[in-house]
Amino acid sequence: MRAIQIAELSGPDSALRYVELPEPEPAHPLAPNGEAAVVVDVHAAGVSFPEVLQTRGEYQFRPPLPFVPGSEVGGVVRSAPAGSGLRPGDRVAAFTALGAFAETAVAPAFFTFKLPDALDFDQGAGLVLNYHTAYFALKTRGRLAEGEWVLVHGAAGGVGTAALQVARGLGARTIGVVSTEAKERVAREAGADHVVRSDGPWKDEAKELTGGGVDLVLDPVGGERFTDSLRALRETGRVVVVGFTGGAIPEVRVNRLLLGNTEVIGAGWGAYAMPKPDFNREVGAALDRLIERGFVSPLVGARFDFDDAASALRCIDARQATGKVVLDVRDAG
Ligand SMILES: NC(=O)c1ccc[n+]([C@@H]2O[C@H](COP(=O)([O-])OP(=O)(O)OC[C@H]3O[C@@H](n4cnc5c(N)ncnc54)[C@H](OP(=O)(O)O)[C@@H]3O)[C@@H](O)[C@H]2O)c1
Repeated sequence: MRAIQIAELSGPDSALRYVELPEPEPAHPLAPNGEAAVVVDVHAAGVSFPEVLQTRGEYQFRPPLPFVPGSEVGGVVRSAPAGSGLRPGDRVAAFTALGAFAETAVAPAFFTFKLPDALDFDQGAGLVLNYHTAYFALKTRGRLAEGEWVLVHGAAGGVGTAALQVARGLGARTIGVVSTEAKERVAREAGADHVVRSDGPWKDEAKELTGGGVDLVLDPVGGERFTDSLRALRETGRVVVVGFTGGAIPEVRVNRLLLGNTEVIGAGWGAYAMPKPDFNREVGAALDRLIERGFVSPLVGARFDFDDAASALRCIDARQATGKVVLDVRDAG
């Protein structure tokens, strides 16, 4: 099969190599008790911020070189273990952790979800990482309740658009924060009730729109705006920390939490979800209900040829990505 490897840590322009590799065995390191894994013919592979960081050796998870990056796919089951509820020919969205930038990929059964008819393969490649993270961050960690106000940073990005859709599906009202007019349109398309600009007085606008402050801030950006995120909260509000695309990891002066009766909550989806098959099935079922009710439908912002994966990484690196970036794999070679 054809696959893409990260072969050196020299950044998106030069780190990738196209290689021919043997078809993978139906085994995955995350499958419990050596259980067989699901083999998927990949139609689309999701591209995300971590792959960009991995080309520079800057992501927390550093596999030995060379390795096939890519954590999620939309595709068709080639083989699945008995009892998994999956059969050859099923359309699926699957989280592979690594190995998605290839014609064939392998995922544990508990990370492989039947793809509803309403979603195509590209959307399937954008479903697991962003939407499971959004649900986990908002509901499991952030304790989001119906009727609450949620402010989402990076609202036109992969996690951001997912968070806007999931928050609405959970009955919340939403404010997206974005940096450009084009991203403003994307955040609205993702269902934001209000959109404000990160270079404007977004904190004051959020307080005014909500009559005093938001209940929850979902933050994949970090950096300098963090203190204003705390200031944008109402009493008992929570900031859920999801990532640091802005570069800097913020520090919290905890007296602010005491004075405002607020919380800062970490949400690291992978570490939490990987050892918990049942949790993933529950979140998968909750998301299926949101898909059925029309709240969740991944926005695919840019599609790139399998042969042009470097451009997909550069698009994310240049802060130009909106929604999900995908690689079209099926027509490769
Ligand atoms: N905690 C978890 O479990 C988990 C799971 C998945 C992803 N993540 C992390 O969440 C973050 C977002 O991922 P994503 O897939 O949503 O990325 P993305 O699609 O590239 O979106 C990130 C957004 O961050 C904003 N941003 C602000 N400063 C930026 C900068 N200097 N460079 C690039 N973007 C900047 C951009 O919005 P504006 O231009 O509008 O500001 C951009 O739309 C990443 O750090 C990723 O690793 C965490």
